[in-house]
Amino acid sequence: MLQRQHWPSRWVFILAAIGSAAGLGNLWRFPFLAYEHGGAAFILVLVLANIVIGIPLLILEIGLGQMMQRAAPDAMGKIRKGFRYLGWLAITLGMMVLFYYMAVMSWSVNYFASAFTLAWGDDTVNFFLGDILNLSGGVNDIGGISWPVLSGLLFAWALVYFSVWKGVQSVSKVVVWTATLPFVILAILIVRALTLEGAGEGVSLFLVPNWSSLANPDLWIAAFSQVFFSLSLAFGIMIAYGSFNPKQTEITMSAVWVAVGNFLVSFMSGLVVFGTLGYMATQQGVPVTEAVTGGPALVFMIFPLAISLLPAFNALIAVLFFGMLLTLAIDSAFSLLEAFSAAFRDRYAAAPTKKIALLISLVGIAGGLLFTTHAGLYFLDIADHFIVNYGLVIMGILETVIVGWAWKGNKLLEFVNKTSTVKLGVSWNIAIKYITPIFLTILLIINLKNEFVTPYEGYPIWALVYIGALPIILSPFIAVLLDRLTTRKQAAVEE
Ligand code: PFF
Repeated sequence: MLQRQHWPSRWVFILAAIGSAAGLGNLWRFPFLAYEHGGAAFILVLVLANIVIGIPLLILEIGLGQMMQRAAPDAMGKIRKGFRYLGWLAITLGMMVLFYYMAVMSWSVNYFASAFTLAWGDDTVNFFLGDILNLSGGVNDIGGISWPVLSGLLFAWALVYFSVWKGVQSVSKVVVWTATLPFVILAILIVRALTLEGAGEGVSLFLVPNWSSLANPDLWIAAFSQVFFSLSLAFGIMIAYGSFNPKQTEITMSAVWVAVGNFLVSFMSGLVVFGTLGYMATQQGVPVTEAVTGGPALVFMIFPLAISLLPAFNALIAVLFFGMLLTLAIDSAFSLLEAFSAAFRDRYAAAPTKKIALLISLVGIAGGLLFTTHAGLYFLDIADHFIVNYGLVIMGILETVIVGWAWKGNKLLEFVNKTSTVKLGVSWNIAIKYITPIFLTILLIINLKNEFVTPYEGYPIWALVYIGALPIILSPFIAVLLDRLTTRKQAAVEE
């Protein structure tokens, strides 16, 4: 029997988990959400959401993986045999995220390469939409392949593949860098941003609390959803990463560290983004609110422009910024891949790790091709909307229901408490059994209602159905298929 691979230490595990959690969402979603929803009022609710559902769910996933010493499918299957399908479902949805997350990484690769010469010039909008994406006029016009995106995708996949090709062993080496560098670079960028003229005005948009927004349910929904996506929950990642811990590894405080590290990256990103936007607005003589945006537009159109306007060291700042973007994205991307590979390794204990990773990478490249077309940005927007609003939410509900309700007794809680001096009590049960599933169910209903009232972003129905809804509807079938394909060869791995 083969020995299960384990992290070299608890801190490497924590870094890997922070690496997965801290990604593009921290940089392009969090600052914008805070701006939209009342600044510090939002940040406060986000901290609360981390405590009320984020950390309890992290403990659930890490604890489950560590207790069962298996990735999501077989960890859930050990609670009750049929639950293994839910584990496959989690990682199938995660794989779908990976398809488009890698396209964003491909853009980041292109920008990193362009940063040395500030190749975007003055027209940063045209550089992104034209030179890189070759964006078509609408989702109906798929056009051909955008070559910069395709070549960036292949390069990004090579980076990801070589990060996971030896499983835990190679991941451990890579995360020590990719999870720590963002903190260092963010610190440098904060100093640069906050010493610029007009930075204060920008940062105040992000930090000055508007307490009246606390009465707006949108703030609460945004904060609680952001925690889920940001902590990489519900796609089997933390279960796989937990399963690489020796059984006695401390869990509760580890989860707290992961949440704190992830929050810090968000907060630091907010300072950089808003400080720089404040400066840019001052230079252009427009109100800061006109420059504010989130998502790809912020990172790939507004930020390059802001960097070009800096008084000195523009290329250096550009290289640091896009280098950081790559390090943020890469460990989030390969965590999705590793959750998938680990499930296969559980089933094919004797198969070489490298072969499994290669096979999945090839599937990933094929799945990512759609996003390299001239309509790729539209497809990505649709896929992301559906997976995050439905896939993630449904999976979160299923996960809390099987652990909180279908698993009799308090086995997981007892296991977690055995590892830690900080003992969890009934409040953890309340978070898992009631707060999280109830919140997610409400969210699901609201999302569904909105979907039928206004088709997302006015995209044509065919695109919403085929790119958005269909993959989610098919995912349970893919999950069953994956289980069938791998069941007969099942070979035990020593715990
Ligand atoms: N947590 C990452 C972010 O905030 O960017 C993204 C992510 C990675 C989400 C992996 C979900 C996931 F499974």
